Amino acid sequence: MNEATTETWIDRLGEEVRFLSDKPEETAESTLRALWLTASGTPVSAEAAMETPLPELDEDQHRILEALVQKRIDGVPLAHLTERQRFMGIEMLAGPDALIPRRETEILAACVLEGLQQIEKTQDAPLVIDVCTGAGNLPIVYAQHTTQSRIHAADLCPRAVSLAQRNVAFTGHAERITVHEGDLLAPFDSPDFIGRVDLLSCNPPYISSGKVSAMEAEIAEHEPSLAFDGGPFGISILQRLIQEAPRYLKPGGWLAFEVGLGQGEILARRLAGNRDFAKVESFTDDQGAIRALAVQRA
Ligand SMILES: C[S@@+](CC[C@H](N)C(=O)[O-])C[C@H]1O[C@@H](n2cnc3c(N)ncnc32)[C@H](O)[C@@H]1O
Repeated sequence: MNEATTETWIDRLGEEVRFLSDKPEETAESTLRALWLTASGTPVSAEAAMETPLPELDEDQHRILEALVQKRIDGVPLAHLTERQRFMGIEMLAGPDALIPRRETEILAACVLEGLQQIEKTQDAPLVIDVCTGAGNLPIVYAQHTTQSRIHAADLCPRAVSLAQRNVAFTGHAERITVHEGDLLAPFDSPDFIGRVDLLSCNPPYISSGKVSAMEAEIAEHEPSLAFDGGPFGISILQRLIQEAPRYLKPGGWLAFEVGLGQGEILARRLAGNRDFAKVESFTDDQGAIRALAVQRA
């Protein structure tokens, strides 16, 4: 394909695709490169595509690329076309079965990882759970950067569980991570977990039900609403998590979770007055907004 065609496609993608602010790595250039590599049979994320040389395409692959570009222009998320997304520097599987991991969730991932690495220094084989795990992106990060933690993950949606299982195998962590299916902490309602968990993480759905259908079409029409809908005020799952977590955490264990914009301050205040927890820490984005909270079991 000649340079002029490539530039025309980059121009079309730039003009016709509304790039979303929560996926800053997606530009017209990274999108075309990721689709090109997908058409060539070696799919990669937008970030990986910027680091990967582009192979020559044959005629069939060129037709595949044209169809992929059109689908992207029609609003299909890039990660659904490539089936890849990078999270915390790790190339992972993605797809319509679960939320596409977002950049802002790296705030939660980094805070949990730091805590987990500290716990591993003083304790053998800490027990870690990630609920609402979606594609399994958070437990994969924990497995990649720790050596001894015993890691469990769960999601209510069977399709998300299946994607998470494929993802832990894809990233080489099938032996470190066990994926369960069930409602919030229900899969862990056993003596193996009750009062024994060192660290519990969660990126829950936290958008209010009324706002879910009004989200960008690319999100509302392609990503599962279960991943976003946090009930009438957006905090139904978060409230359940805060109520149910103490039963599973050991004294001194941590609960860490992501919050929506504007939810952090009020939740931090409420948690500061909650006797189940001894300590509250907040983690902010570049604009200073709280995007994750961590609380220590009393
Ligand atoms: C915001 S997504 C987070 C996905 C992933 N952890 C991430 O950070 O990208 C929320 C996830 O919670 C799951 N979920 C919703 N309600 C749930 C419930 N009651 N119990 C367990 N999982 C639930 C959804 O299926 C979805 O995968």
